[in-house]
Amino acid sequence: MTETQRIVTANRPDTINFTEMYVTHDGFRRDLARFAAAVSAGRGDAPAVRQGWQNFKRQLDVHHTVEDAWLWPRLKNLVAGRPDDLLLLEEMEAEHAVLDPLLAEVERALHAGAAELPVLVQKLRDTLEVHLRHEEDAALPLIQSVMTPADWKGFSRAMARKQKLGGASIWVPWITDGMAPADARKFLARLPAPLRLLNRLSWDGRYRSRGLWSY
Ligand SMILES: [Fe+2]
Repeated sequence: MTETQRIVTANRPDTINFTEMYVTHDGFRRDLARFAAAVSAGRGDAPAVRQGWQNFKRQLDVHHTVEDAWLWPRLKNLVAGRPDDLLLLEEMEAEHAVLDPLLAEVERALHAGAAELPVLVQKLRDTLEVHLRHEEDAALPLIQSVMTPADWKGFSRAMARKQKLGGASIWVPWITDGMAPADARKFLARLPAPLRLLNRLSWDGRYRSRGLWSY
């Protein structure tokens, strides 16, 4: 994997740093690429593929739940009276809602060993990609224009409350899974030192030993 410009180590203090949002989105993309490769090889039944899928669903659920419960409602207040911006936030919610039945369809096909599994995984991948692009191209610039870095800290705190330490112990090594080493270093440098230490001593090794998505 090549280095990305999406991990920002230094930014003006009056601007929001979206690194954690970008790397999480890229984790979803990476997982679905691995899932697509596994099912097209006929290995959707491999235990580590199933575990990779369960973890993907958990990460996506946490991410979208906090966006729906914390982020979009606050943004709606900030752009009250601006119809175009309100429409964009409604689209964000609608795109999340479209993904839920698609995830359920993939889940059903996976457990039934259905022949249409590769097609459904590709449909999920395409639908999620459209949503992530839309969020990155339109919602993040809106957030940058109406929220402060202090507001954004509130979102990070809401995410941390939802994940708890147990969730962080998986999220951190999940993010760096397959990352270019220079990017992983830059991302890890943004974490509070105690979490970075926990990751180095325990979380990363435990996550890698699971070999998610291998088949
Ligand atoms: Fe997001």
